[in-house]
Amino acid sequence: MQNRRIKLAPSILSADFSRLGEQVDEVAKAGADYIHVDVMDGHFVPNITIGAPVVASLHTRTNLPLDVHLMIERPEAHIRQFAEAGASIITVHVEAATHLHRLVESVKDLGVRAGVALNPATHLSSLDEVLPLLDLVLVMSVNPGFGGQTFIDSMKDKIVRLRRILDERQARAELEVDGGITANLAPEVVKAGAEVLVAGAAIFNSKLGAAKALQEMRRALG
Ligand code: DX5
Ligand code: ZN
Repeated sequence: MQNRRIKLAPSILSADFSRLGEQVDEVAKAGADYIHVDVMDGHFVPNITIGAPVVASLHTRTNLPLDVHLMIERPEAHIRQFAEAGASIITVHVEAATHLHRLVESVKDLGVRAGVALNPATHLSSLDEVLPLLDLVLVMSVNPGFGGQTFIDSMKDKIVRLRRILDERQARAELEVDGGITANLAPEVVKAGAEVLVAGAAIFNSKLGAAKALQEMRRALG
């Protein structure tokens, strides 16, 4: 785990949607590595957010990889649309997939990096059979559906266990953690084994402004 460069992925869920382009430019300039796009359908999670047209607009605005987190039912019906809109990474939830292996292969066939997300209560063993195929594993550190929730502390141990599995199996998947991450918490989450940190409220709702908040999180990581 040593010497990995930690990636920061601001989640636009907490951005000001009336100024989305500017907000993305701001975090890009401040050193964001990915733009995390939370797609919610009002079924898999209670909220409805945004869809492929927003991804397409962001794709024309920024060169940063668009890290699309699908919190939707029947993800197989929508992945092509997001790939064509310019997603670099498409992450699907284990809990939303009946045929996870086929779904992951379909994402890869579209020429997009494939991620799998696990809700807090979902056991790591659900990844076992698809792990070698994955480019990213997303550990949810809140129950998905809302920005600005509190990090569930017991997820640190889950991250440690996943890190061990990834290292033992020499898996190339990046370990991303999403939910409730702040500049204060970031170093512990990285110490546990994360290499990509998603942050929404801590970046876009910060009094410092998004750019400074992102730089502060980077500084906290040393
Ligand atoms: C939660 C989303 C997260 C969320 C993170 O359902 O998947 O990406 O935007 O936001 P914060 O950092 O505010 O918890
Ligand atoms: Zn997310």
